Amino acid sequence: MNIGILGGGQLGRMLALAGVPLGARFRFLEPRSPAPVDSIGQVVRAEYDDAAALERFREGLDVVSYEFENVPDASARYLAEVIEVFPPPAALEFARDRANEKRGFGRLDVPVPPWRSVDSLEDLRRGVSELGVPAVLKTRRLGYDGKGQFVLTSHDDVARAWEDLGSSPLVLEGFVDFDRELSIVGVRARDGSTAFYPLVENTHRSGVLVRTEAPAEGVSAGLQAAAEAYIGAIMESLDYVGVLALELFEVDGGLLANEVAPRVHNSGHWTQDGADTCQFENHVRALMNLPIGSTAARGYSVMLNLLGALPPLGAVAAEPLTHLHLYDKAPRPGRKIGHINVVGPDRAEVSQTAARLEALFPPESGPA
Ligand SMILES: Nc1ncnc2c1ncn2[C@@H]1O[C@H](COP(=O)(O)OP(=O)(O)O)[C@@H](O)[C@H]1O
Ligand SMILES: [Mg+2]
Repeated sequence: MNIGILGGGQLGRMLALAGVPLGARFRFLEPRSPAPVDSIGQVVRAEYDDAAALERFREGLDVVSYEFENVPDASARYLAEVIEVFPPPAALEFARDRANEKRGFGRLDVPVPPWRSVDSLEDLRRGVSELGVPAVLKTRRLGYDGKGQFVLTSHDDVARAWEDLGSSPLVLEGFVDFDRELSIVGVRARDGSTAFYPLVENTHRSGVLVRTEAPAEGVSAGLQAAAEAYIGAIMESLDYVGVLALELFEVDGGLLANEVAPRVHNSGHWTQDGADTCQFENHVRALMNLPIGSTAARGYSVMLNLLGALPPLGAVAAEPLTHLHLYDKAPRPGRKIGHINVVGPDRAEVSQTAARLEALFPPESGPA
């Protein structure tokens, strides 16, 4: 099976690392050089909208997927005419624009924080007076790792927020005083069967994921079922194939949807060592039309992102329960260059190990 992946970052790298044992071969379309996939498969080095490169890329492939959702619509649609593309390009469009995404959640009765569409300074003034402060202004498109966001803490912030982001289409959201951030990763096969990993708890710093704990502590069967119903409805409505992630806020025992990622997700990296079948393998299984593998957790996991600078690898490797995953990326401030999964049968021991590992992180590590 020859699998093409749009994007050649760490997610593509980990898809291939999981898919090669299943007999898959990988080709990537990636404009940047060097890229994390360079040592892992063939790389067509070109922009995503380069028509001739798309031709070369798709030649001899059986199926195309992506690890990067900002692939131009036209490119995904063009490929979908000549080859199977999973998840379907409609999923990219759903997730790409925050206003569109929130309307989609609304249609499926998935609850979201209060929000307004903002296209003018007037809209922003009205939105802030209707939703109150604090509120978060976000670009509709191309935001990631907290980029393209402005938190307004007073009505006096309106002018500065507009100056900062007003050149793009925006949404304004009420700031959610959440109890914690959770996410769920699900997978849907071509025959429509689905499986879901347990809810996990995510910690962000400056809008960037730094830590995932899996499964999240104290999740009731009802909360897990609600999360599965939400993500299941989204997958169903898109006739989705592959792995999808849904980021959630837990508030007073209920859930609000923040955003979806139509791909494997950083909050699912723990599954590489902490679940029966990892999210990357399950995505590849869906692409290959194989049955989905068990999504059950094996014990407890903590995933720590390595941002900007590496801890001493010898000391990391010396810690029992520890699995190191590096992305072959040069360290730069704030950059995601790897992660560590800590997995064991005892939650306290796993957290203590994670704390010892965090103490090894150099001071310059963390979000930029
Ligand atoms: N409405 C909100 N209320 C409270 N915190 C928020 C809100 N929106 C975003 N955040 C915080 O910022 C982080 C990043 O925002 P998110 O919308 O997920 O954008 P990104 O695409 O950058 O991940 C969230 O994980 C959360 O910690
Ligand atoms: Mg997010």
